[in-house]
Amino acid sequence: MKDCEIARAFDRDGFVILPSFLSGPDRAALKQRAAEIVDDFDAEGHRAIFSTGDAEATFNDYLLSSADKVACFFEEEAFDASGRLRQEKALSINKIAHALHDLDPVFDKASRDPRLAEIAAALGCAEPLLWQSMYIFKQPRIGGVVDWHQDGAFFFTEPESVITFWFALDDADRDNGCLWVEPGGHKGPLRNRFIRRGNMTEMVDRDPAPWPTLKDAKPVEVEAGALVVFHGRLPHYSAPNRSDRARHAYTLHMTDGAAQYAQENWLQRGESLPVRGF
Ligand code: FE2
Repeated sequence: MKDCEIARAFDRDGFVILPSFLSGPDRAALKQRAAEIVDDFDAEGHRAIFSTGDAEATFNDYLLSSADKVACFFEEEAFDASGRLRQEKALSINKIAHALHDLDPVFDKASRDPRLAEIAAALGCAEPLLWQSMYIFKQPRIGGVVDWHQDGAFFFTEPESVITFWFALDDADRDNGCLWVEPGGHKGPLRNRFIRRGNMTEMVDRDPAPWPTLKDAKPVEVEAGALVVFHGRLPHYSAPNRSDRARHAYTLHMTDGAAQYAQENWLQRGESLPVRGF
């Protein structure tokens, strides 16, 4: 797809699909690296964060400290009442986040693909900054729903500038929890913002516009290797994975350094690992 076609679809629909962006070996390398990271992760040592009674504060500390780390997050119900994993570790992880793209050579290479820089330029991003990466597992049978939201809520800049790159590492369809979007919904308002206050975070309403209903939504069914690029105001969600198939995806969030990145955004980078572009 030509740059001008990408820009036209993005402006019209709020998202654009680029099939076959990643090759089979590219996808295999990312999957293998993710499996190694999970394998090395000490589940026992992190059990308290995900399974204790005062989980909120503990979890918040873990979330906030992951801004410049490679951290594993468990599925919500990964642990039973006695604190044991209900199934093997590799099938209990929700995601790896949030600085894979800066700290892991395999993800760094995939995230700094010159074709992404070209897309960023075509979409008018003057000074790309890559803030966050996530490897999302959406595990077979237990992969949970992610409710309607706009990524602009998490990466607020003035003017708004966040763009999401979503890489399908498996075929994604309605049965295994593909993305759903509201085509053209990026022309609506930004409904809320995810704000950091000290060590806590909260979602703050900004506009009373309702979230789309399913009749306004379109499933983004794509084959493994596709790249979906979408606008920070595009309402999207993903359904649970009730199938026996994995639905791995890798996501990358970029803002424009020419815009002002809000100090209230939860994800901040210090001198130890400054945010950078391609
Ligand atoms: Fe999102």
